[in-house]
Amino acid sequence: MSSTLIVNARLVNEGREYDGDLRIEDGRIGQIGAGLSARGGETVVDARGRRLLPGMIDDQVHFREPGLEYKADMATESAAAVAGGLTTFMDMPNTSPPTLDAAALEDKYRRASGRAWGNFGFYLGASNDNLAAIQSLDPRTAPGVKVFMGASTGNMLVDDPVTLDAIFRDVPTPIITHCEDTPMIDAELAVYKAKYGDDIPARFHPDIRSREACKKSTELAISLARRHNTRLHVLHISTADELALFQAGPIEGKRITAETCIHFLRFDREDYETLGHLIKCNPAIKDPADREALIRAVAEDVIDVLATDHAPHTLEEKARPYTSAPSGLPLVQFALNAALELVHEGRLTTAQVVDKFAHAPAKLFEVENRGFLREGYAADLVLIDDTPYTVQREDVLSKCGWSPFEGRTFHSRIASTWVNGVLAWDGMSLVGAPNGQRLAFAR
Ligand code: DOR
Repeated sequence: MSSTLIVNARLVNEGREYDGDLRIEDGRIGQIGAGLSARGGETVVDARGRRLLPGMIDDQVHFREPGLEYKADMATESAAAVAGGLTTFMDMPNTSPPTLDAAALEDKYRRASGRAWGNFGFYLGASNDNLAAIQSLDPRTAPGVKVFMGASTGNMLVDDPVTLDAIFRDVPTPIITHCEDTPMIDAELAVYKAKYGDDIPARFHPDIRSREACKKSTELAISLARRHNTRLHVLHISTADELALFQAGPIEGKRITAETCIHFLRFDREDYETLGHLIKCNPAIKDPADREALIRAVAEDVIDVLATDHAPHTLEEKARPYTSAPSGLPLVQFALNAALELVHEGRLTTAQVVDKFAHAPAKLFEVENRGFLREGYAADLVLIDDTPYTVQREDVLSKCGWSPFEGRTFHSRIASTWVNGVLAWDGMSLVGAPNGQRLAFAR
């Protein structure tokens, strides 16, 4: 394999930012240093003025395959991800059929092989009746087990208390949860339906899928995890109220961790006016005060992981009335640009973005040899250029063909992305062929 030398970069890794060079050799980071000189035949990239980061690891995406390929598939969405500097994805089980046993899991790995632009892992899903599949799961075959403790897109609600308790007791991997209390949501929805019929204004979404519903369900997940000492990761925290349930501090040693998503840090209730169902998602985007508290919680290590919950739906679906417009929005392509806006605003450092979006998921899920700029690790890299970029619909690579960020200008753009040492994105277009690999979990 050929080698590439990236010189004069501003490396950001493990809490440090420093000038240096990095050599890619045989798909791996061969050398990190200062003043490295090029070898014969080596491709040299002058990265002066640019930041070089480990590729982001997105622990929550919905790439829709199998069964929902009319709106997304592994090839299109992983292409959008690498264009956005996300080199690894962990995909959710609410596909059709849902991923409820080892055979369905292996089917997904087969589908991704040779087609995924980024590295891939697939979660096993939980249901009210697949406890045996969870108990017998080989922990090296999935990052974790996903439990919908609130109903969302797809019909995967686990609401049987005996089953829930057993899942938390027996799960052989980290458990990751969607926490919203469905009976509370149903009760609120009935109130709004009585008033508006199916055409409920989008701005009431955070009142229907309320903060109280989030908190109640997150409390339940935490109490179950405490009872069984489960390794619990609560996904997409959307409220200030839930933050007190988590501890501040480094991810190492935590048995209970929290994730938030980029849309909760960039949008709030005021955006329903202009974006309507385009930002309808579960849990709902809530108030400006929640957004502020969540940004602070990321900075203060109360929130451990930043992800996307990339959940594409077509514009036609989004144009339906409230009760039938599906929840979720496409995010992978511009999530890193959006996170870096928080750096430009002085709210986070680049090192913190790298920590939450690359190091932390690698540690949490024991991803082997990825998520860091370390010699010997896979050369999953992203180069950031601080020149403005305005999101336009024609640039969107996700199959659904739209972005909630259209028209927004970011201060930074993704100049290059390497996956396993091979250039996949050159700042303008995809390059070469899909080169993602199946993730290995060091368990
Ligand atoms: O908004 C959401 N969309 N939340 C989920 O939990 C599921 C996701 C989807 O699959 O569309």
